[in-house]
Amino acid sequence: MATPRFNHQFSISLALSCFFLTTFSFTEDVELTSLLRFKSSIDDPKNSLSAWSNTSSSSSHHCNWTGITCTRAPSLYVSSISLQSLNLSGEISDSVCNLPYLTHLDLSRNSFNQPIPLHLSACLTLETLNLSTNLIWGTIPDQISEFSSLKALDLSSNHVEGKLPEGLGSLLNLQVLNLGSNLLTGLVPNVIGKLRELLVLDLSENSYLVSEIPSSIGKLDKLEHLLLHRSGFHGGIPTSFAGLTSLKVLDLCLNNLTGEITRSLGTSSLKSLVSLDVSQNKLTGSFPGGVCSGKSLVSLSLHSNLFQGSLPSSIGECLSLERLQVQENGFSGEFPVKLWSSPKIKIIRAGDNRFTGQVPESISLASSLEQVEIDNNSFSGEIPHGLGLIKNLYKFSASENKFDGELPTNFCDSPSLSIVNISHNTLSGKIPEIKNCKKLVSLSLAGNGFTGEIPKSLAELHVLTYLDLSANKLTGSIPRELQSLKLALFNVSYNKLSGEVPPSLVSGLPASFLQGNPGLCGPGLPRSSCSSGRSSFRIALLLVLICLTLALAASFFISYRYYKKKAQCKSAWRSEFYYPLRLTEQELMKAVNESSPSDLYVLSLSTGELIAVRKLVNSRNISSKALKAEVRTVAKIRHKNVIRILGFCFTDELIFLIYEHAQNGSLHDTLSNPGGGDQLQWGVRLKIALGVAQALAYISKDYEPHLLHRNLKSRNILLDKDFEPKISDFALDHIVGEAAFQTYYSCYTAPENNYSKKATEEMDVYSFGVVLLELVTGQRAEEGESLDIVKQVRRKINLTNGAAQVLDQKILSDSCQSDMLKTLDIALNCIAVAAEKRPSLLQVIKALEGIIISSASTEKLPVSA
Ligand SMILES: *[C@@H]1O[C@H](CO)[C@@H](O)[C@H](O)[C@H]1NC(C)=O
Ligand SMILES: *[C@@H]1O[C@H](CO)[C@@H](O)[C@H](O)[C@H]1NC(C)=O
Ligand SMILES: *[C@@H]1O[C@H](CO)[C@@H](O)[C@H](O)[C@H]1NC(C)=O
Ligand SMILES: *[C@@H]1O[C@H](CO)[C@@H](O)[C@H](O)[C@H]1NC(C)=O
Ligand SMILES: *[C@@H]1O[C@H](CO)[C@@H](O)[C@H](O)[C@H]1NC(C)=O
Ligand SMILES: *[C@@H]1O[C@H](CO)[C@@H](O)[C@H](O)[C@H]1NC(C)=O
Ligand SMILES: *[C@@H]1O[C@H](CO)[C@@H](O)[C@H](O)[C@H]1NC(C)=O
Ligand SMILES: *[C@@H]1O[C@H](CO)[C@@H](O)[C@H](O)[C@H]1NC(C)=O
Repeated sequence: MATPRFNHQFSISLALSCFFLTTFSFTEDVELTSLLRFKSSIDDPKNSLSAWSNTSSSSSHHCNWTGITCTRAPSLYVSSISLQSLNLSGEISDSVCNLPYLTHLDLSRNSFNQPIPLHLSACLTLETLNLSTNLIWGTIPDQISEFSSLKALDLSSNHVEGKLPEGLGSLLNLQVLNLGSNLLTGLVPNVIGKLRELLVLDLSENSYLVSEIPSSIGKLDKLEHLLLHRSGFHGGIPTSFAGLTSLKVLDLCLNNLTGEITRSLGTSSLKSLVSLDVSQNKLTGSFPGGVCSGKSLVSLSLHSNLFQGSLPSSIGECLSLERLQVQENGFSGEFPVKLWSSPKIKIIRAGDNRFTGQVPESISLASSLEQVEIDNNSFSGEIPHGLGLIKNLYKFSASENKFDGELPTNFCDSPSLSIVNISHNTLSGKIPEIKNCKKLVSLSLAGNGFTGEIPKSLAELHVLTYLDLSANKLTGSIPRELQSLKLALFNVSYNKLSGEVPPSLVSGLPASFLQGNPGLCGPGLPRSSCSSGRSSFRIALLLVLICLTLALAASFFISYRYYKKKAQCKSAWRSEFYYPLRLTEQELMKAVNESSPSDLYVLSLSTGELIAVRKLVNSRNISSKALKAEVRTVAKIRHKNVIRILGFCFTDELIFLIYEHAQNGSLHDTLSNPGGGDQLQWGVRLKIALGVAQALAYISKDYEPHLLHRNLKSRNILLDKDFEPKISDFALDHIVGEAAFQTYYSCYTAPENNYSKKATEEMDVYSFGVVLLELVTGQRAEEGESLDIVKQVRRKINLTNGAAQVLDQKILSDSCQSDMLKTLDIALNCIAVAAEKRPSLLQVIKALEGIIISSASTEKLPVSA
């Protein structure tokens, strides 16, 4: 392929010889032709490349076309083609290699579904090739070495699989190599250390990459970002890391790294380090000092490892540090005291260690501080006055420590304060008036030695929902004012309270929250009457009570159960997030109250983020560790057509799965929304079908462990903003257990479901067939055993002998009728009564792809209305 070079030299020399006009138009023609050829092999459903056409008007010069940038010197030449997010698919043609000055080709965020386009190595001037977030599949062949001019290769978020080839070592000009979020396997070859120009190396989220970190990486002295998180790296962190002298971000979290963290991470060579994340591995030993020698460290995450010893006090000198996460280790010794007054620090998470030391008054200097979590340590001393002076403080959780003395009166002056947990310390004295923190949602002072009365001013905190004052030495009566709060939990048990309990508090909450206060009286308590007065009054009261009981018997029972559930839910809230969500108690309570088990509930967080929440029963008796392991199994799946699980919260009774939000809701809603079905033209429906089939095949064949969906229905297929389908609610049996799964989660069940206990792929194929019927007919399936849609379709086809009758008339057109009939045929095979007659998922995928390919080659379908 010497033509491009030839053209370009040829044109320059001729231009110099003053034949400018002729040569210019000659090259111009070559460029025009090349671009038109490039376009002709691309499938462009939205007609985004309509400007790319051969007309002679000058305003449509190809340098003015969508996505094209031209150089000005030596004259106009195409230098960059950037066509992101246009839903493009089809073939990536090498005709662009005839563009003599092309340096930049960006086709990211499209739907190119093909192996790595090796023929682009003929583009001798190409420096950036960005195919991120497409459907690129297959392995990286050794011939990748032919891309020797490349400076940036981005294949992230595709389905690239197989081993990293030695040929990578020939790409000596590479500055950016991003292969993150793929399906790479095997070992990372040592040749990676030859890429001495690398600034960014990203091999993250390749869970099948089971490899040690090659020590040759330490030779990459220009490397600034090294991202290896969420892959299968094991073994130690190589000592050669001391050679990464330019490193700014090192993310090794969520791997299987073991051994001691090397000294080299702490040496002064890592001067530029801004973020270090080695959390969730199995690293041991003590953490080296000097990690902050360059003073640029912004984020340090070491949590969930097996570190011991003390945290080097030099970390306190990291004046740029914003996030310190060292929770869940075995750290002991004094917590670096200077951290408390670090000017930029926002988050300190140090819970579940054995840290000692005090929180100093100088904490008031940490003016950016938002979250402090130091539960379950041995911190001591008083809660400082300085805490109340921090304007941004949102959470202060310091339960199970040895704090003592009285609470400062300004304790609650931070206007952002939402969550306070200082339970299980040895604090004493009166609870100060708490008025200023109007955003306080949760206050736990349980298990201390507080005396005096419950301050009335608590009633002025309008969003307070969780108030635990249990196990103290509080006296006096419960202020009536508290009735105005909407408390989900109000635990004052085991104090020395007395007098009448305000009526709405008694009726709204289980009596166990009041127990252990012999002086309290009121209905339902051991001392039901508060006055020692006349018996007639007591009889009247009794009558009223009986009436009330009779009148409200049913609803009381329900609401009692409800409250009980709700309250317990609050009290034993545990969570695990795989994504940094800031979810407040209040927001969670909203989901507890408003979500129903059958629907995904969309929750808008205070951060503006939207998440989807699924309520599940937690009736299985397994440890939270086992439950976490089960959810992780499901949450680790990464596939374009599988919804991401961002985390989960659970109590003994409920589980909330938190999913990423899909902008266009469920397929069920979109199909049944009048007018909504119109958005889903046939081409889109076909792609939805294919995406769902691919996702099912992925979880059951490629993913380890193999999972069955078992609950596929159109309600569980979510559509993102591009109508790309994402399956949700899969493999719930792993989370709630088989028994609860059978009881609560019906799906489009195959006939054999009634007698066969064992779940099979054929059952998923059946459910998929029902979804396919919905897509073809535009009708919704009724859930449960009597799948009306199946009967109806079969009946209609038999009666009229013409399947065209059942097709969705809203979208039917001459051009798509035959494809719809072919798809109907696939659907009917999938819902075959005899399980063994149904096609496999791979056969279904092939058949659907066949339809898509044949229709693309005949004519372009109108995809979107
Ligand atoms: C563009 O159109 C002109 C005139 O219609 C024609 O001569 C030329 O060959 C066309 N070029 C391409 C690349 O189709
Ligand atoms: C691009 O279009 C503008 C007007 O839309 C025109 O003035 C300019 O000359 C065009 N550029 C080229 C290179 O033709
Ligand atoms: C590739 O494109 C993606 C998405 O458009 C972008 O985030 C990424 O930074 C690009 N990669 C390179 C190396 O420019
Ligand atoms: C982590 O390493 C241990 C011990 O080498 C091994 O048993 C385990 O399977 C590994 N876990 C993962 C997720 O790779
Ligand atoms: C408290 O922290 C220790 C580690 O220091 C840990 O072993 C223990 O499980 C933690 N306790 C709780 C209740 O989380
Ligand atoms: C407060 O801390 C205690 C002890 O660590 C814990 O059991 C409780 O769930 C926490 N309360 C809240 C609301 O987080
Ligand atoms: C209420 O507080 C008592 C004493 O701390 C505790 O035993 C009980 O479990 C708490 N109840 C709930 C539901 O949190
Ligand atoms: C992709 O196509 C769908 C349907 O045709 C459309 O709604 C969506 O906006 C497109 N995506 C982008 C990024 O343009």
